[in-house]
Amino acid sequence: MKAAVIERQGGVENIVYREWPDPDYGPDDVLVRVRACALNHLDIFVRRGMPGFPVPMPFISGGDIAGEIAAVGAGVTRFRPGERVSLNPQTDEGMIGEELLGGLAELVRVPAKNVIAIPDQLDFERAAATPIAYGTALRMLVTRGRLQAGETVLVLGASGGVGIASVQIAKMLGAAVIAVAGSAAKCARLLEIGADHAIDMSSTDFSREAWRLSGKRGVDMCVNFTGGDTYVPSLRTLRRGGRLVTCGATAGFDPKTDLRFIWVRELEVLGSNSYSQDDVERALAHVASGKLDPVIGATFPLHELAAAETLMERRDFVGKIVLLP
Ligand SMILES: NC(=O)c1ccc[n+]([C@@H]2O[C@H](COP(=O)([O-])OP(=O)(O)OC[C@H]3O[C@@H](n4cnc5c(N)ncnc54)[C@H](OP(=O)(O)O)[C@@H]3O)[C@@H](O)[C@H]2O)c1
Repeated sequence: MKAAVIERQGGVENIVYREWPDPDYGPDDVLVRVRACALNHLDIFVRRGMPGFPVPMPFISGGDIAGEIAAVGAGVTRFRPGERVSLNPQTDEGMIGEELLGGLAELVRVPAKNVIAIPDQLDFERAAATPIAYGTALRMLVTRGRLQAGETVLVLGASGGVGIASVQIAKMLGAAVIAVAGSAAKCARLLEIGADHAIDMSSTDFSREAWRLSGKRGVDMCVNFTGGDTYVPSLRTLRRGGRLVTCGATAGFDPKTDLRFIWVRELEVLGSNSYSQDDVERALAHVASGKLDPVIGATFPLHELAAAETLMERRDFVGKIVLLP
């Protein structure tokens, strides 16, 4: 098969589109012919290298996958070749695209228990754009964050994958959304997508503006997976008893904090990691029924993975970037 292979950790010049042996599969696995694979920031971290998390090189990343069953293991009765599927990349053996070979290739091996059938009306691009971003956002906002209708949520990094998923899920649940993004053009797009307000953090102090927009009461919840310099200003946006939820730290994992906000306002800082199979199934069902609509910012042929990852690194996109083998 053909695959976009990370030959060694570092810059995008280490990605080579080349031949790779077809994956072996066991009795409880299926082989999926990949029709679309969406990028996540994790793909950048896997290529660049993460401290304390070695990835064996050469490697194929990509955990957000949709395609057709190409073959099934001897023990698999639930699926047949040709069926349209997506999947939960968190397997019992590790995460597909981070610990197991991923879907930025023509074929990928997947344990059958992680495979989720998708209906005909759900196209491969939107199916691939759903599991990680929407599964993560469902767990972060609903399971961990306990978001309620009528609350106000501030979403940082709102233009990216998990960001747009958070905006859309909050709106679906009846919350008001203040979206924060890095340019006026991204803010305009977020208002079209359904945010009630959008703050361009390249020209506006988002902390002061969110405080003003909340009627100087503070927001109920702040979604912050950027960390770095955005962390303390995010604490400052919250009302007494407010919740900050986090699932990552794109801009830095060891930010300065300010404990005064945490004790004086009795804030809750809630971590959220990953998603369950149920989260991914619910996310795909919401997308199939039209309640959630992933935004595809750009599509690339698989052999242009380096250009796609460069676009993500430059933050010059809105929504999900999808690769087509
Ligand atoms: N724990 C988990 O299970 C889990 C699951 C999924 C994702 N995550 C984490 O969640 C974060 C977002 O993932 P994603 O796939 O949605 O990423 P993404 O699509 O690249 O979006 C990230 C957004 O954050 C904003 N941003 C702010 N500061 C940034 C910086 N210094 N560098 C890059 N972007 C910055 C950018 O928007 P603007 O340019 O508009 O500011 C960008 O669009 C990542 O840290 C990822 O590792 C964690």
